[in-house]
Amino acid sequence: MGTNSRKLKPPSSSSSYYLPRCIPLLLFLAVFALLFFFNIDTFVSRTKSIALHTFSEQSRLLMNAEGGNLQHEFDITWGDGRAKIHNNGGLLTLSLDQNSGSGFRSRKEYLFGKIEIQIKLIAGNSAGTVTTYYLSSEGETHDEIDFEFLGNSSGDPYTLHTNVYCQGKGNREQQFFLWFDPTLDFHTYSINWNPKGIIFFVDGTPIREFKNLGSNGIPFPKNQPMRVYSSLWNADDWATQGGLVKTDWTKAPFTASYRNYKAEACVMSGGISSCGSRFSALNLTEKSNSWVTEKLNSTGMERLKWVQKNHMVYNYCVDKMRFQEGLPPECKMSS
Ligand SMILES: *[C@@H]1O[C@H](CO)[C@@H](O)[C@H](O)[C@H]1NC(C)=O
Ligand SMILES: *[C@@H]1O[C@H](CO)[C@@H](O)[C@H](O)[C@H]1NC(C)=O
Ligand SMILES: *[C@@H]1O[C@H](CO)[C@@H](O)[C@H](O)[C@H]1NC(C)=O
Repeated sequence: MGTNSRKLKPPSSSSSYYLPRCIPLLLFLAVFALLFFFNIDTFVSRTKSIALHTFSEQSRLLMNAEGGNLQHEFDITWGDGRAKIHNNGGLLTLSLDQNSGSGFRSRKEYLFGKIEIQIKLIAGNSAGTVTTYYLSSEGETHDEIDFEFLGNSSGDPYTLHTNVYCQGKGNREQQFFLWFDPTLDFHTYSINWNPKGIIFFVDGTPIREFKNLGSNGIPFPKNQPMRVYSSLWNADDWATQGGLVKTDWTKAPFTASYRNYKAEACVMSGGISSCGSRFSALNLTEKSNSWVTEKLNSTGMERLKWVQKNHMVYNYCVDKMRFQEGLPPECKMSS
């Protein structure tokens, strides 16, 4: 073996013999070097941007997840072709007709995060339909954080229904009328779920806060990873004006549209969080991680009060009080 490989090498004493045969190669190298010299700026900046990109990809993977391409982030889970992804993942539509609705869910599971998406709801007569957008874990004792949009007759307002389930138990509804028509354009609906609490936002305005009062023995979702789900379905037995107004199937198919998904979140995979334990891997001065410590400042508190005073149409705490049921402890504490 050793002798064979040595035989392949030219004998050092006769290197001059090889020189003429090298000239084309040297010329080629010279031309290449010239080309390289004149292109060096582009080359350097390109290498730099590739390196930066790789770096930001890595830090992003390390610290949080980001959305954007709906095709990569979601699986269509039902509806037999009624849910569609358009523009290479830039837009997703759900539709509902008399035979079926449709839905999708996130591929990733999260344990804490700020999840947001833009939705444009069904225009015109949407009575009887429900469009949902929520976080949920699995199983009977699941946790869930809900946005549900209950359709209405043309000209009547959509009801935005919110709820929080802990360990399979819900009954924490608050409902709102929006201060704009959610069918004319896309609006941003976000859930910030961190260990301190849950804040629901509409276009950056907080509409509801569910604080973690776990130290007072009040349940709070904090152990079960959740996926993002969305669906469009028929619920005309209860959704609109208590079931009095039925879905008008002559207007079908009904369509809701989604875009600009963003998840600044801790992704769970095989029981391990991308954020490490207790967010230790997160750089909290990084803007994309500000959700971890997000609390409402004085402006946020004012906005929340404004929404609750002027746009809230149902609050389970008030209802429980009215019917003199046992008032849930979080209602006593958050007043
Ligand atoms: C629909 O509009 C009516 C009339 O304004 C209102 O009472 C109701 O709460 C609205 N929402 C639903 C889901 O019925
Ligand atoms: C954390 O993020 C800030 C803002 O991006 C940056 O200036 C700082 O160097 C980062 N710290 C570490 C330890 O990476
Ligand atoms: C309050 O928080 C919001 C973000 O939720 C921010 O845009 C705004 O600048 C803050 N205002 C003050 C006075 O700190």
